[in-house]
Amino acid sequence: MFDPEEIRKDFPALSRLVNNKKIVYFDNAASTQKPIQVIRVMQEFYEKHYANVHRGLHTLSQEASKMYEEAHEILAKFINAYSWREIIFVSNTTEAINTIAYGWGLWNLNEGDEIVITVMDHHSNMLPWRIIAQIKRAKVKYIDITDEGYLKYDQLAELVTGKTKVVAFPIASNVLGTINDARKIVKIAHEVGAIVVADGAQSVPHMSTNVRELGVDFLAFSGHKMLGPTGSGVLWGKEDILEDVKPFKVGGDTIIDVTLDSIVWHELPWRFEAGTPNIAEGVGLAEAAKYLMKIGMENIREHEIELVRYTLKRFEELGGEIEYYGPRNPIDKTGVLAFNVKGLNHHTVGAALDMFGIAVRTGMHCAHPLHRRLGLEGTVRASYYLYNTFEEIDYFIESLEKIILLKKSLSGPPTEIICTGT
Ligand SMILES: Cc1ncc(COP(=O)(O)O)c(C=O)c1O
Repeated sequence: MFDPEEIRKDFPALSRLVNNKKIVYFDNAASTQKPIQVIRVMQEFYEKHYANVHRGLHTLSQEASKMYEEAHEILAKFINAYSWREIIFVSNTTEAINTIAYGWGLWNLNEGDEIVITVMDHHSNMLPWRIIAQIKRAKVKYIDITDEGYLKYDQLAELVTGKTKVVAFPIASNVLGTINDARKIVKIAHEVGAIVVADGAQSVPHMSTNVRELGVDFLAFSGHKMLGPTGSGVLWGKEDILEDVKPFKVGGDTIIDVTLDSIVWHELPWRFEAGTPNIAEGVGLAEAAKYLMKIGMENIREHEIELVRYTLKRFEELGGEIEYYGPRNPIDKTGVLAFNVKGLNHHTVGAALDMFGIAVRTGMHCAHPLHRRLGLEGTVRASYYLYNTFEEIDYFIESLEKIILLKKSLSGPPTEIICTGT
């Protein structure tokens, strides 16, 4: 049975105090806490099996190689890939998207080609496309959003034309939480022969992912947002399309042979994992995927839907003091809630919540164009995961009530905070 109280016991960080209060960790869209299983497996790997992979004939290198390769297999199972060879380990979503933007874009885009992305994209799925478009003299077009934070699908058919070579979008927004209709986007993009790149940073950790059903050509996600270590992430691509992508980072381990005038690239996925990879992080990520599979992604998704439903209901009890952004139907979104307290700067609210031991993120969450589109200078973002509870939400609402009561004394000029969040 799914029991967040039992799950919490696996997460040492959740038992600490912050500002003398039990921590309430609502910053999961930025990065999640780690279960003891992941921490232990990495410690054991360093204590007993550590060596560089691929190169050695000696026992430690073989053990490390086996664990690292098996980690690819586990991740393939996690997203139902056709083969573990489609799983490329990268440091994070940002690296995954850059790998495609440059590895595919440099060789396949031409002047006048078009790339369609969305106004709700995180900078990591926006800037690589904008820069490659600049280099190749291609054009970037944006799908807009409705007032409630859904993509304007009716624009898709106009924006995607015979010139479109790439359509890239987030499966879930890191600010609005909106879950986008991948199949609808894929259908229109594939009709004109464009490749489809999905940013799964905010979806893969929170719902069951089946790349065969999604139908996209590439999927990027980060390990640190799904209980895994920092420095771990995945770029998944369909094998036949990956064969058309040239490695963007090249060097050691990417080749089978090199002469002074020829290169024979290594087989998949190694040709894309240049240099010594993040080995322990790969092993840790696999342990995180195993942990999530054991709990059940459907259970996690259901739990988050109920947490969102409950929060939106409780927001309404705050006398119209909360401005909330994004879909109101919990089924249409992940456990990410962006809001503002009327009359208070988002950073002020975030700092005040920290005094209550509540960790949220404030700023533009690496989605400046989206905030500009919404006419906002920033938002407070609470984002949930499997270990969050209804009691924590009650405490969060009580704390917001206290902040609202103190509004007058808090509403001076906000402290300047440069960081714009992730
Ligand atoms: C939707 C989305 N895409 C991409 C990223 C970038 O992830 P990373 O920092 O792990 O590369 C994030 C991080 O918050 C995100 O939310």
